[in-house]
Amino acid sequence: MKNLVDLELVGKRVGIRVDLNVPIDNGTILNSERLSAALPSILHILKQTDNLCIITHLGRPNEGKYDEQFSIKPIVEWFKKRLNRDIQLCTDFKSLPGSLCFIENIRFFDGESKNSDKLAYEIANSFDIYVMDAFATAHRKAASTYGAIKKSTLACAGILFQNEVENISSALVEGSSLSSIVGGSKVSTKLEVISNLLNKSEKVLVGGGIANTFLKAAGNEIGRSLCEDDMLGIANQMLATGKIVLPRKVMVADSTSDESVEIVSFDSVPQNKMILDIEFNEEVFSKNASEIILWNGPLGIFEIDAFSKGTDSLVSYLSKSNSKVIAGGGETIFAITKFSRIDKFDYVSTAGGAFLEFLGGRELPSIQALN
Ligand code: 3PG
Repeated sequence: MKNLVDLELVGKRVGIRVDLNVPIDNGTILNSERLSAALPSILHILKQTDNLCIITHLGRPNEGKYDEQFSIKPIVEWFKKRLNRDIQLCTDFKSLPGSLCFIENIRFFDGESKNSDKLAYEIANSFDIYVMDAFATAHRKAASTYGAIKKSTLACAGILFQNEVENISSALVEGSSLSSIVGGSKVSTKLEVISNLLNKSEKVLVGGGIANTFLKAAGNEIGRSLCEDDMLGIANQMLATGKIVLPRKVMVADSTSDESVEIVSFDSVPQNKMILDIEFNEEVFSKNASEIILWNGPLGIFEIDAFSKGTDSLVSYLSKSNSKVIAGGGETIFAITKFSRIDKFDYVSTAGGAFLEFLGGRELPSIQALN
């Protein structure tokens, strides 16, 4: 994989695919982490050439036509202010100005998601160097994240992309001293992740609805808690590794709107109650601490105060931990910003789905194309 920082850019036409897919409400950007994360590559390129076109997607519009609701105009405004300069917003690759510009939401272009050769060539032929920096979209085999890389004369990974791959890979290399924490609601959506992490980790602590399925598989009463019965067999096989760490205490209530939460032992859950949060037992991690801790997924329904304690204590433990802490995933990032700050963690991935696929041991299409 070639890296942006090693290339000579002076006099070149450069295109960069970034992931600026951020939540926007009525023109207001609600979270700009991904925009800031794209800056190092953009600023690096601008030091050598002004001939730069920035490409991103936003949301999931119907492909092939313009839809104002998914226009990247608010994002362009953010960059105009941040870079303190005018930036053109172009609607096709034929009329690029030769100076810093954005191309409208790439998902307005026919053939993006189907990775059409036509669009991939159009993108690739518009630049001398094509930079892939959209790690959060690296799991999509689209024209701008796969085809254009393959068809470019020279394609490379951007600074964010390189950082993401290096940091996440550092946790997964054979022989690393790793503990993992996997929360979230369903075992089925994280099957590959848990399996792969069981191979690589000393222990895997489970939380959220995932923990319920494991608790039941281990023979415990879980009352009316969320559980995937068809996953009990596989959960049992995973328990047999001896590496799964189950919660010792759980928070139960009648429903998500019930605020009279009780904390009970994992083996004394009343039949009429639901587990909606778990107690984070930090001893599991502080005793024989591993060099790296990898975290994805909340431990309870942290959006509701009454069930946020587990995730809150986990975030506060991790933000002070001496281990190298690597976290990622949409809800995980949201929890970190709710209870602490991203800069208190050693590495927080900008990716959601791509982070999970990477943890699951899959080769992401963009990485395959870059290699
Ligand atoms: C994300 O937010 O996970 C990425 O931008 C990918 O978006 P997508 O799931 O719509 O492809």
